[in-house]
Parts: sequence; C-alpha cells; structure tokens
Amino acid sequence: MANIVKIVDGYSFLPRSEHTLLEALEHQDIELEYQCRQGFCGCCQIQLVEGEIEYREEPIAYVPEGKILPCCCHPLSDITIELPQPLHMLQNKQSTA
Ligand code: FES
Repeated sequence: MANIVKIVDGYSFLPRSEHTLLEALEHQDIELEYQCRQGFCGCCQIQLVEGEIEYREEPIAYVPEGKILPCCCHPLSDITIELPQPLHMLQNKQSTA
C-alpha cells in the first residue's frame, strides 16, 4: 500500500512506490536543490516532521537529526515533510487559468 506524503503548509499526495521521495516531489512539479542524487553530497536534505523513511542504500553524506535525504529515501509510512522554502517558491507550475 502506498504511503501518503504530506507537505507542511502544502498538500498531500500519493507517491509511486518505485520513486525516491525526490522523484515523487519532482512529479508534483516541486523543484528541490540537488547535486548527486545518490546520498553523497547532502545538499537535498529536508526536514522530516513525522513518519518513517528508509534508505535502500545507506547515504554517505552526514544527515543531521530530523533531516532526510529525499534523493535516496522512500517513505515507510505516511510522512510529513517540511520543505526548505514555501511551496509556491519551489513549484514549477505555470498557471494557465
Ligand atoms: S542530492 Fe546529493 S545527497 Fe541528495
């Protein structure tokens, strides 16, 4: 069963289970900063407010308490995350309405 990703001050969505959290956010047109996408650099880190994630391969980068690396993790439960900037600043959607 898929786990819900809730964004603080944003909305919730169901990611595809084969996607990393970063890929799932990108499918929501949310652009986070990243470099390696493999857990080496640590630049993609975001706050995990609630829930559990797993790393299928343990990241090399230092991950401070409460932070996660979305480029290489998958939700293990419903999770709540806080993005580094307000959602509207990270969204790539152009309104056509
Ligand atoms: S992009 Fe390098 S650790 Fe996530």
